[in-house]
Amino acid sequence: MRIDILTIFPEMFDSVLSSSILGRAREKGLLDVVCTDIRPFSESKHKNTDDYPFGGGAGMVMLAQPIADALKAVSGDGARKIYLGPRGKTLTTAYARELAKEEHLVLLCGHYEGVDQRVLDSCVDEEVSIGDYILTGGELAAMVLTDCVARFIPGVLGSEESPEEESFSDGLLEYPQYTRPRVWRDMEVPQELLSGNHARIAWWRRAQSLLATLAYRPDLLEKAELNKNDLRFLRGVEACFCED
Ligand code: ADE
Repeated sequence: MRIDILTIFPEMFDSVLSSSILGRAREKGLLDVVCTDIRPFSESKHKNTDDYPFGGGAGMVMLAQPIADALKAVSGDGARKIYLGPRGKTLTTAYARELAKEEHLVLLCGHYEGVDQRVLDSCVDEEVSIGDYILTGGELAAMVLTDCVARFIPGVLGSEESPEEESFSDGLLEYPQYTRPRVWRDMEVPQELLSGNHARIAWWRRAQSLLATLAYRPDLLEKAELNKNDLRFLRGVEACFCED
């Protein structure tokens, strides 16, 4: 997959894209990410990328021209062009999985008070938000989207790390994890995990996922993929704690 990122701060991406799993995916050629500075595309004398808003008000608005030209330069045919902004559709696991099927994404990072609406209307396919809060710019959101999407590209996670076994993949939160030592500050690793009995471990983990979701995000249970045993387990928990 190729991801082009258009930004006025390309240097912000250096360490994120060259470290850890994203760095490894790029080295392996599974992911090609290119950050392009919007500023050189500006036709103004001083290479401005923003101007005062029509109608007055605080802050500056990013100019349409440099963005349109930068988008044209990197997009080619078939690229899915995304503007990162708080108005957009919220990024979820399902959305990231869908984006991971694309061959080419172009991510546009806005700044200041926003971007001239005309370039968004005419040159961008969709807007994506990473949550209901306002960031100082779209760069951090583009990093989050890139990281989240990359995990679904086949081969990016090692064979033992599966994106399907994590929180939200089946709509549930993840079970707790433990590593050595067996006892740390008088706290023991749950016996079930030391049993060596795979069925028992799987049952324990599923129960823990259900309990964590019930405790922290009960809203997720409405849409989660639950089987008969899950429902029986949850009814049992309910019966224990909700006695009249
Ligand atoms: N830019 C500013 N805030 C943002 C958000 N919440 N999501 C995506 N891009 C943004």
